[in-house]
Amino acid sequence: MPPRRLTNADLAAQLAAQGVETSDEWIVERTGIRARHFVEAGVYSSDLALEACKSALSAAGLQAQDIDLIIVATSTPDMVFPSTACILQNKLGANGCAAFDVQAVCSGFVYALTVADAMIRTGGASKALVVGAEVFSRLLDFTDRTTCVLFGDGAGAVVLEASETPGILASDLHADGKHVGILCVPGHVSNGHILGDPLLKMDGQAVFKLAVGVLEDAARATLAKAGKTEADIDWLIPHQANIRIMQSTAKKLKLPMDKVVVTVDQHGNTSAASIPLALDSAVRAGRVKPGQNLMLEGVGGGFTWGAVLLTL
Ligand code: UT7
Repeated sequence: MPPRRLTNADLAAQLAAQGVETSDEWIVERTGIRARHFVEAGVYSSDLALEACKSALSAAGLQAQDIDLIIVATSTPDMVFPSTACILQNKLGANGCAAFDVQAVCSGFVYALTVADAMIRTGGASKALVVGAEVFSRLLDFTDRTTCVLFGDGAGAVVLEASETPGILASDLHADGKHVGILCVPGHVSNGHILGDPLLKMDGQAVFKLAVGVLEDAARATLAKAGKTEADIDWLIPHQANIRIMQSTAKKLKLPMDKVVVTVDQHGNTSAASIPLALDSAVRAGRVKPGQNLMLEGVGGGFTWGAVLLTL
């Protein structure tokens, strides 16, 4: 995460100066968020991704030149094009390997993992960097208290490597484009101008209701594909948007909250970066261990959702 950290109180004070009223109490009670990190001017998704990738490569004992595939999940690319993955590849010095972005908003990381897994299984790649990187602070309307308190910036990355023993056991991805309007940034670039509103819009209650239903369905479908049951899940690592959504999903899957990795309190909703940030935090804290089964789940704009079951 970028160094600049704003607690709820910091953000509330900043918003109050603009006549927007919110409080630490409201944000904690409704979302579980206590703080978020925002980038400074001039820092982009590829910069956050670079730091995450360096840590992931170091943890894997690999060099950037060993990588033959880079997939970046982001909805906040550095540029319209080329892809953030290409910009990242150059910063890493991994020039020459395949590199592209996946755009599935908050489900981006599970989409990207699934694509990388498929490419590795079919021999199209052997060592992949899969990254979630976002600077959502640039999309926020700081006059809209219903959205601007929810999101933060960050990046997380993993290395996937071809192996005889999986690894990724099963995944399940979905989208339903009829819900485009409930979570979107409707603006676009046209003829040298930004047309439409380039700030994030969300119908929070509609997203909430859809999220709790589809997250249960995706987890169950993924377990069924892998021939596993809820009892086989050692850790649920869901998209970190709202603690109440995580609690509801855990309850539906009959998992106690001590099997759920929760980091939303420390970084808010970082969209495609939230699952790898949570995974990283749990691995580095020694909570999530090799050999354990992890259920990763994402949900977000599109509407998109999906799950990946893996053995670490
Ligand atoms: O990453 C993609 C996934 N995104 C999500 O998962 C987000 C899903 N949605 C949510 O997490 C929740 O719907 C929110 C956190 C966005 C909102 O929580 P809620 O419990 O659904 O609140 P609400 O929208 O029903 O608003 C309740 C009240 C309203 O006031 P009135 O009309 O009852 O007087 C809002 O105006 O809370 C008010 N409110 C706030 N008050 C203080 C809304 N935002 C704020 C705020 N501070 N920041």
